[in-house]
Amino acid sequence: MEKYIIMGGNPLSGSVRISGAKNAVLPILAASLLSSGLTVIYDVPRLRDVQVMKEVLEFLGCSIEWSGSTMKIDGSKVNSIEISDFLMRKMRASNLVMGPLLTKFGSAKVSFPGGCAIGSRPMDLHLKGLSIMGAVIEEKFGFIEAVASGGRLKGSEICFDFPSVGATENLMMAAVLAEGKTVISNAAKEPEIVDLQKFLNNMGAKVSGAGTDVIIIHGVDELTATEHTVIPDRIEAGTFMTAAAITRGNIKIENIHLRHMEAIVAKLKDMGVKLFEEDFGVRVIGPDVIKPVDIKTMPYPGFPTDMQPQMMALLSIAQGTSIISENIFENRYKHVDELRRMGADIKVEGRIAVIKGKNKGSLSGTFVNTSDLRAGAALAIAGLGAEDATIVDSIYHIDRGYENFEQKLRGLGAKVIRVTETNKGMEK
Ligand code: UD1
Repeated sequence: MEKYIIMGGNPLSGSVRISGAKNAVLPILAASLLSSGLTVIYDVPRLRDVQVMKEVLEFLGCSIEWSGSTMKIDGSKVNSIEISDFLMRKMRASNLVMGPLLTKFGSAKVSFPGGCAIGSRPMDLHLKGLSIMGAVIEEKFGFIEAVASGGRLKGSEICFDFPSVGATENLMMAAVLAEGKTVISNAAKEPEIVDLQKFLNNMGAKVSGAGTDVIIIHGVDELTATEHTVIPDRIEAGTFMTAAAITRGNIKIENIHLRHMEAIVAKLKDMGVKLFEEDFGVRVIGPDVIKPVDIKTMPYPGFPTDMQPQMMALLSIAQGTSIISENIFENRYKHVDELRRMGADIKVEGRIAVIKGKNKGSLSGTFVNTSDLRAGAALAIAGLGAEDATIVDSIYHIDRGYENFEQKLRGLGAKVIRVTETNKGMEK
């Protein structure tokens, strides 16, 4: 098991480049199954989740070349429509291949995604949408098997009860090769969905409306080769903003789309963090005093749940009391006990967390354990702002979604090292 040892208290300085977005590249990789030609994707981040999606595509028969940050996918030899339980359990987003497989080959079989550290994450919205499009779906022995009746999905009107990101993406991908017109209402509006629309349209699909709550797709018969550059990761950018703020640092963030981050930027400004646009990037300056704020996580363009743990770490040293309300996942406070171990004063009641900031005091380094990706990022940030050494365990969660995290932090002057369990007596 690998850990970080972080010596806190160093103000970050210098510049950092943000990688391609994890949540954009995963559906785009799944969508490459739809193409009858070669797909070339640029700015693909080296992440554990991307590696798993690559294994999923290879398992299905794709041949893939991944060199630097460019991935080439030849989906012309796909010879399976079934994802093993082993691969599904490695990553929930493997379920994104369901829409593409079903619409291209007429059937798909995936195992049911299991429980998840941040709450149960059902697939009912994905399945309801697919069945409205004419899929016959059977759930048995832990697998979901879907067959398009008549061999091809039918364009339909789908209205989601909740704007699920994954269900919107799965249904968009299913609709591009379906017969006729599909209208998805109450669709998710995340920038990653706009990026998926761009990718699909470059392949010859006819999709419009992504970024609004109504997406319209006219089915076509074939999708062809294309090239695409993935948008920057807004959550990685937000994570580095909180890292700069907690260390009272002054950093430049490059390859960033601020217009994708309005809710994050607004809260950081309310907290006293200074943000200025500069040539090819954004400067972030942490204030001496962090002001308390209240945050409600919401679907985009609201405040993203994926930034809630990192903001909580920052608010734990604010001058006053903040309230966070987590409205997307029912169990996304696994980082709270670990932050408390570092001296944070946080009380949780259901979906509400009350954070009493330490005012001029700081968190204190100790041993903490990571339960999921963003909890891990939050604990690393807390460690950067804490007195003495913080040991963050189970950092494989962080590797799922942050490319070269500790290298990027070190480039900004942070004292972070990665150690494996067998390394005894590491220097702090
Ligand atoms: C995506 C992101 C994840 C982010 C989340 C919310 C990817 C690969 N992952 O996950 O980082 O935290 O959006 O912004 O893009 N739900 C149902 N039924 C369904 C589907 C979802 O009840 O069929 C519920 C979930 O349990 C959850 C909520 O809807 O409570 C949001 O889930 P969803 O938007 O689907 O998130 P993901 O696509 O899994």
